[in-house]
Parts: sequence; C-alpha cells; structure tokens
Amino acid sequence: MPRSCGSVQNYFRQVDFYPDLRRNQAVLEGMTIASARQGRQGRQGPAEIPVVVHVLYRAETDNLSDEQVASQIEVLNEDFAGTNDDIKNVPPIFVDRVGNPGLRFALATTDPSGAPATGITRRKITTPSFGVDDRMKAESTGGTDPWDTARYLNIWVCRLSGGVLGYAQFPGGPPETDGVVILSSAFGRGGTAAAPFDLGRTTTHEVGHYLNLSHIWGEARVPTCTDTDSVDDTPNQWGPNFGKPTFPSASCDNTPDGDLFMNYMDYVDDDTMVMFTDGQVARMHAALEFSRPDLGLAPADPDDVPAPRARRKRTAARPQ
Ligand code: ARG
Ligand code: ZN
Ligand code: CA
Repeated sequence: MPRSCGSVQNYFRQVDFYPDLRRNQAVLEGMTIASARQGRQGRQGPAEIPVVVHVLYRAETDNLSDEQVASQIEVLNEDFAGTNDDIKNVPPIFVDRVGNPGLRFALATTDPSGAPATGITRRKITTPSFGVDDRMKAESTGGTDPWDTARYLNIWVCRLSGGVLGYAQFPGGPPETDGVVILSSAFGRGGTAAAPFDLGRTTTHEVGHYLNLSHIWGEARVPTCTDTDSVDDTPNQWGPNFGKPTFPSASCDNTPDGDLFMNYMDYVDDDTMVMFTDGQVARMHAALEFSRPDLGLAPADPDDVPAPRARRKRTAARPQ
C-alpha cells in the first residue's frame, strides 16, 4: 500500500461533519490572495510558538525520551528558519526561491492554567494503534485532551495504522482537534525514529499543512497536471515523489528543472526534503495572521475588553 498523507484524508473526513471548514478555508484563501496581491509580508508569527507534545504509549519503547522530544523541537527550529545543514542540497536553479519562514518553536513552559510545565504530557494507553480519526485527541476516546489550541501547537505522538506517518488539521477546522499527529517511529531525530523517516521531517511537513500548505501537486484525489497548491513558485507536478530522487526529475511539462521534490511538502525521504519556498512562506504567514492570531499569546485577560469597533472587525476577519 503506497503511503499517503493522512492530512488529506482527514480533511475530506472533516468536511463531511464540519461544514464551517470549507467556509473558513475559503475566507482564509481570499485573505491570503489579497495579502499576496498587496505585497504584504503578513504577520511574521509570534516570537515563539509554544508547543505541547502529548506522548501516548502502550509499549514502553514508545514512551519517547525528553531528549527525543527536544530533538524534534530542534528540527522545527532549523527547518522553519532555514538553518538546516542540508539546505545546501537545493539545486542551484532553485536557490533563489528558497524561503525562510523565520519561525521559532519551544516546548511550552506554562500550561493553560499558567502553572509551570515541561510541555510534554505522557499517557499509558491500551490501544495498539490509532486511525486518522482524532481519537488520540481526547481522553474520552483513549487519548489526551489538547491544551488551548488557539494558543498552543498541540502535537500527539502515537502509533498510527495504515502506513500513515502523520496528519495535520488544516486551519479552519474544529478547535478541539486542532494540531498535528505524528507516528512514534517518525518523531524526532534519532532515538526510536526509524530510517528513512528519522530526521524529524514528518513533523516539519505536517506543521506545513497546519499552516495551510498543500502538497506541491495539489490536493486532488486523482493527480492531474493542472491541480495546484496555490503557490506560484512551486512548479506543477503530477503527484508525490518517493525515496531519494535525483535532480532533475520532471513530470507534467515542468522541464528542464523538473519537480521541486526536495521541498518539505513532497513525500520524499527525510534526508531528501530540505526547503520551503518564498511563496509557501507567504502562505504560512497569512495563515498565522488571519487564522491562528492567538498562537503564542498569553491567556486573554477578562478585564481587557477591546473597543467594540476593533473587536467586531477582528472577529469578522478571522476564520475559526
Ligand atoms: N503525512 C505524510 C505521510 O504519511 C508525511 C510524509 C512526510 N514525509 C517524510 N519524509 N517524513 O506519508
Ligand atoms: Zn502531507
Ligand atoms: Ca505551485
């Protein structure tokens, strides 16, 4: 069975029971386009995105060490700042479109109530593995409840069935399941992570979806050469690339440069995906600005009620 990204499966599953998702996505898409047209940089994001990692384990080996969790945060900080060593593998022809998201991540140091925390929760479970159905995201279904998804990036680490390495919820979905899920053996760098998915790139890829990036080839269930990721500087390509392609690797009519297979939003091995583009960065910044404005903010102070006008404007402008 070919590996497929759980995020798309999850999207079509959620569209069926959460009609707001399509509407919220359309609103965000409009703002993303308007923002690009105005040449706006978009909000760069908070100074630091607080992360909570929920480890769910049946076997003790899946109870990943704090070090392995820390290694994943390190990978995010490299990949989302363009400081990863292997960025030098970008073929020269693509170098000028390498984008730097300029984002920082850190394990949360306070929980939603404001108490000091490690940013890691651990729960021993009896479920052998989960499907792409969000059951890992609630205590009542055998998982762990999220921390306020508006303020924290929630990452659940668990076993997943069906060859799925991970899945994300796109912006605009139900708040109670917002975040990303990563297979225990594809989380972090080293430790129990298994080659060729042992460099933490599954999380980089899923956080890309969480910030509204599509796969390079688009999201159609049956690939075509015209489906698009709504990003101009990623060439259209037929479908996913796997393993370790060598440059150039063309599809559709994108010769001579070929597919941007070394991008985080393709399906290649961890050691072969090394970059985001400028267009993808603009899209992520728009998602942060318009759809995830409270990430990294302190809890709302109930006394701090904004002026009615400002408040009305902001609410209208924000897809859930
Ligand atoms: N969600 C995708 C999958 O399950 C992730 C692909 C990530 N690729 C990687 N090399 N880590 O296949
Ligand atoms: Zn994906
Ligand atoms: Ca494109």
